Amino acid sequence: MSNHLKQVFVSYTASVMISAFVSGCGNSNSDVKVGIEPLSTLTEIANEKPEPVSPVRVPENPAELKLAVERGHYAFHTYGCWHCHEIGDEEVPGMRNDVAMGPDMADVGSRLNAEEILQSILRPNIAIAEPKEKHMVDGVSRMPEFEDPLAKDDINDIVLFLSQCKLHAIPETMVVEVTSENYNEIVENSNGLVLLDFWAEWCFACLEISPILDEIAPEYQDRIKFCKIEVDENPLLVEKFVPDVMFPCLVIVKDGKVVDRKYGMGGAQDPRLFFKDWFASFLPNP
Ligand code: HEC
Repeated sequence: MSNHLKQVFVSYTASVMISAFVSGCGNSNSDVKVGIEPLSTLTEIANEKPEPVSPVRVPENPAELKLAVERGHYAFHTYGCWHCHEIGDEEVPGMRNDVAMGPDMADVGSRLNAEEILQSILRPNIAIAEPKEKHMVDGVSRMPEFEDPLAKDDINDIVLFLSQCKLHAIPETMVVEVTSENYNEIVENSNGLVLLDFWAEWCFACLEISPILDEIAPEYQDRIKFCKIEVDENPLLVEKFVPDVMFPCLVIVKDGKVVDRKYGMGGAQDPRLFFKDWFASFLPNP
């Protein structure tokens, strides 16, 4: 670690408040992802231009790597990268969205490998994204020089930190979106139980139900097919299934025929229990 960073690092380790925000990338997940891409084309780029470039050093020991990532997070703020880059919705003291004009770094690790991140910092004139002049002033990089002994370690740490900044994929829902177009294929021709959830953006109670269905759908996999239908987009299906035109409306269909219908959860205290009880009357006893 450079002396320069050592100095700031002392105050950093002392501060519980800062270390609380040090390890994630705009989320509370502090697990460090270890799989950093191999450095493949680095030598090719180095041969093309005469500037010396050091490869990213990845500590093999997971504990050391975790520490390096935390230092990198801290260095990212120390070097003022936050003037132009956010990291997701992370609270950064003094950072204002209207001055953040570089790309959000929250998912940089999903888009760039370690070597590309390094190149973006060191040689911004070959940065991947446009416009290319932001890291440069009059052709000279504003970034701390990698070969500067004071900054070398810091930049390596920043690269390791940014490499593990990946947006978490939104978990896939098992609830199928049904429209007039795919209705026949998904509902009519299905020979089992189908739940239709008629919902709309403007229907507050509907918005409460959707996440519950997302959550419980996997439990009923192979027994009930969960479907949601947006009511404004699909007036014909509303006409067919929701005679009272009230929402939310939940309809159970079996072999293409309506077997039961409920307008909402009837003020149930425990929504999961509500669905469990309701479904139990249609499902064969286990
Ligand atoms: C003056 C504003 C500014 C500052 C300060 C700044 N950046 Fe950038 N950065 C940008 C802009 C704008 C881009 C996109 C344009 C480009 O790639 O040339 C960018 C691109 C990047 C990229 C490529 C990201 C991508 O998604 O392609 C990385 C990595 C990066 N910056 C890292 C840093 C680091 C690390 C620091 C601090 C040491 C920093 N930047 C400081 C403005 C800035």
